[in-house]
Amino acid sequence: MARAARTRLPQPVFHEPVFGEDGSLPDPTGFSTAHGSDNALYKQIGDLAKKDVVAIPKSRIGNDGMFSLAAAYGSHGPQIVRKITDAGKIVFHSLGDSGASNAGKYPKELRVADQVTLDCASAAEADRAAFLYHLGDVVYNFGEARYYYDQFYEPFRNYPAPIFAIPGNHDSFVIPGTKPADAPLTTFQRNFCATQTVITPEAGSLHRTAMTQPGVYFTLDAPFVRIIGLFSNALEDPGVISGLDKTKKWPVTNIQIDFLRAQLTLIKQQKYAGAVLLATHHPAFSYSPPDKDGGSGGDHGCSTAMQQQIDAVCHEVGVYPHAFLSGHAHNYQRYTRIMNFGGREIDVPFIVCGDGGHNANNLVRARRGKPAQEPNAGADVGYLEGKGGVADVKHLFLAKYDDHNYGYLRIHVDRQYLKIGFHQVGARSLAQSRYDMVTVRLADRHMVAN
Ligand SMILES: [Fe+2]
Repeated sequence: MARAARTRLPQPVFHEPVFGEDGSLPDPTGFSTAHGSDNALYKQIGDLAKKDVVAIPKSRIGNDGMFSLAAAYGSHGPQIVRKITDAGKIVFHSLGDSGASNAGKYPKELRVADQVTLDCASAAEADRAAFLYHLGDVVYNFGEARYYYDQFYEPFRNYPAPIFAIPGNHDSFVIPGTKPADAPLTTFQRNFCATQTVITPEAGSLHRTAMTQPGVYFTLDAPFVRIIGLFSNALEDPGVISGLDKTKKWPVTNIQIDFLRAQLTLIKQQKYAGAVLLATHHPAFSYSPPDKDGGSGGDHGCSTAMQQQIDAVCHEVGVYPHAFLSGHAHNYQRYTRIMNFGGREIDVPFIVCGDGGHNANNLVRARRGKPAQEPNAGADVGYLEGKGGVADVKHLFLAKYDDHNYGYLRIHVDRQYLKIGFHQVGARSLAQSRYDMVTVRLADRHMVAN
């Protein structure tokens, strides 16, 4: 039977959200019968994915509103939030680009989803992830309803906590001729931005209820941390968050700029002391060598204009996030941006974690018969900043990367520190799986030894 029936029967409304299944279900042995492949179509429409943006749906709540972790947990929310607060720290997962677009990729997605699930099951209570934050590209190649079961619900069937998400380009690009009801963002919103606690047709026979995020851009307010998530639209490159691009190429509204301004202003007015993260699917920085004879960038470029727009709002308000999270490029990259902001020097990690199962791509590719020149850890990449931004950047360097393994972020925030670890899948224990970690002291914004 096709898992995602097109008939829209009224969905039962539940009083409580449900996350993982009650009891562990075994790994699927393959895609359901509903899953075909769009790879041929994807090749055909390649050029459109360089120029067709989509309208940004407005959030259900005001620009200064937030979605609380407690609300996502239903009536248990206040109790869960109290436990996290009493423990003095929160732990959560984050990853991007998990969707497996063919059967060959499926085991990779399952390994990542299984490991974050196992981490939840085996961690001591105070170290257990409170949620997973998905950085986009949940369902390939075009966010089709009929693929949600295989690529999202089934792999994460035993993950026992809320899964928040911002849409990636693959969750939003519209194939010409698609009916509005079948537009990928409509499906995304049905599954992540539902107005009621329902099980969607996409979940098939599983019990995970749809998330009730207020929109495709939103602030998640959790103990010790706020995550401002923006939708960076449907292009392969670059990420587009507004129509403020100087080239005026992208006909989208500036509602996310107003939203970002309102959220940063709120942080300032409240003198918010927790960690502030900013998430976009497309990364501000992705490695691309200046000397093309040394190879070309392996996988997606920088979204310079997008970052300059974010920087401009941050400067206007006088608040800068502690770290940036992205996916899209199918590898792990960690940059450090040392900048002058508000009269002091701050260290800001920019992290790409787009190896959640779809692919793991090389950072550099050979070009014109010359071997790829791999960068050294700590390589100066100031040229990735581009020209014309307001940020006063002293130094931008590629601190560390991994372009061979699949993995995810395990993030820890307490009253003093933000710690972002990158874990590879396949290691024998969680401790052995950690490949990288960066620690930022919240008060003075400096990186410290882990
Ligand atoms: Fe992407």
